[in-house]
Amino acid sequence: MTNGPVPRRLFIDTVGCQMNVLDSEMVVASLRRLGYELTDSLLEADTILFNTCSVREHAEEKVYANLAKLKKIKLDHPSKTLGVIGCMAQKDQKTVFERAPFVDLVVGPGQLHRIPELLHNIESGAGKQLAVSLSRRAGSQEDIRRSHETFDPLRDPTMRPTPFQAYLRIQIGCDKFCSYCIVPMTRGPEQGRAPGLIVAEARELANQGCKEITLLGQTVNSYRFNDGGKTVELADLLSSIHDIDGIERIKFVTSYPKDMSLRLLETVRDLPKCSPYLHVPAQSGSDVILKRMKRGYTVAEYDEMMHRIRTILPDAAVSSDFIVGFCGESDNDFEQTVELVERCRFKNSFIFQYSVRPGTKGAQLLEDDVPSEVKTSRNQRLLELQNAISQEENLKFLGSKVEVLVEGPSKASLKRNEVGPIRQMMGRTHCDRIVVWEGNERQAGNLVSVLIHDASSHTLFGTIETRQSQPDVVQLAYRG
Ligand code: SAH
Ligand code: SF4
Ligand code: F3S
Repeated sequence: MTNGPVPRRLFIDTVGCQMNVLDSEMVVASLRRLGYELTDSLLEADTILFNTCSVREHAEEKVYANLAKLKKIKLDHPSKTLGVIGCMAQKDQKTVFERAPFVDLVVGPGQLHRIPELLHNIESGAGKQLAVSLSRRAGSQEDIRRSHETFDPLRDPTMRPTPFQAYLRIQIGCDKFCSYCIVPMTRGPEQGRAPGLIVAEARELANQGCKEITLLGQTVNSYRFNDGGKTVELADLLSSIHDIDGIERIKFVTSYPKDMSLRLLETVRDLPKCSPYLHVPAQSGSDVILKRMKRGYTVAEYDEMMHRIRTILPDAAVSSDFIVGFCGESDNDFEQTVELVERCRFKNSFIFQYSVRPGTKGAQLLEDDVPSEVKTSRNQRLLELQNAISQEENLKFLGSKVEVLVEGPSKASLKRNEVGPIRQMMGRTHCDRIVVWEGNERQAGNLVSVLIHDASSHTLFGTIETRQSQPDVVQLAYRG
């Protein structure tokens, strides 16, 4: 037996959006380089990190509740290091130490590359460590931007939901300042990453066996980068990544309605690897509310954009986000949102109840005056309508074959603890619809053809096309 150094163990919990999932991948990659191994046991872990989200109050309260539960573990094992990272770390900063005094480390999303150094400081007895980016008015534009840098090139396939799917950040931060939203404060100014870096990272991902890349940005289609006098847009990035061997599918989220240009839509149409799937949140169907939200477009402009999408990409799946119960939202405003959902026939919508975020214009200037029970009932009504539409749209697939990138065993299969290679498998169509079928674990990572015979609002159910099930093969068998 060899007596190498005992590896340190890292527990990391991630909530929030895809940006956080990607950030956690980077943090893990950087700590693995130092010999850390992942564990899903809080008791075994030497370092416990919570990667947090601030977009709604509920998400934050859950983290503080989880931290409170860890107090005893920390008291019993003072050598464990407990860290809060991500958007809530940036927003709450020192308050995290006040609300959870046993936390050792607070690191905002723009400072995650410093985690190895900060953990080292804690081990060396330097006490609690705080690393956050500059706030939006705390310095020159250049200094603020630099304080929100990321360390994307470190990639760790084992930390991804599947090794053949990866997120790739093309844009940091957001400058849209929607009045309800905390993201411009937690993630800082909008910055496009250099195209050379992005394409090199896509190549690296392809070398790691990645087949599907999802480009990430808060307003991903607003991406612009001045590359030696030439402006590079998302459409250009799609073309460059499309040329990389091994990459089979390219997606991008989240899109901003005003920047859904003709050129971008035509690029998606003309490049077969680009998924005909667009996530382009409307937030509301009322002009009064959109104005109060400072979204920068009218309902008519959103409708025009949908018309453009349907004309250029008739088979595209479009999904949306909505906030119900925003300040001053009347029954009439809400009815207009219902009408927009009826008109647009989204593949799916994420529906949220408005949550006041201190530090936003909404919190400063507008009253959160829609009662909680009204928010809940509007939420339910919109969700029911959306689910009915999602199911109708899914039923259109009955009898057709879809090409599916197999992700792995379905959630139901994992829940049932099915063992062995034959189990219910799950994957997605090019337009991001979830498909399940009775399959084989070995299919994971492949593109397979599935014949759809049933559908619910969230899932298509099918059978995999194998040679045995083709009529000519069956006939041969009968003849024999
Ligand atoms: N950058 C993306 C999404 C940002 S956050 C975009 O602009 O579309 C994801 C979703 O959370 C938003 O689309 C919005 O619907 C919701 N959201 C943001 N702030 C919120 C708040 N204060 N209360 C409730 N929902 C919110
Ligand atoms: Fe938030 Fe608006 Fe920026 Fe999206 S576009 S991250 S909703 S401020
Ligand atoms: Fe949440 Fe930060 Fe993403 S606030 S939604 S984790 S950018």
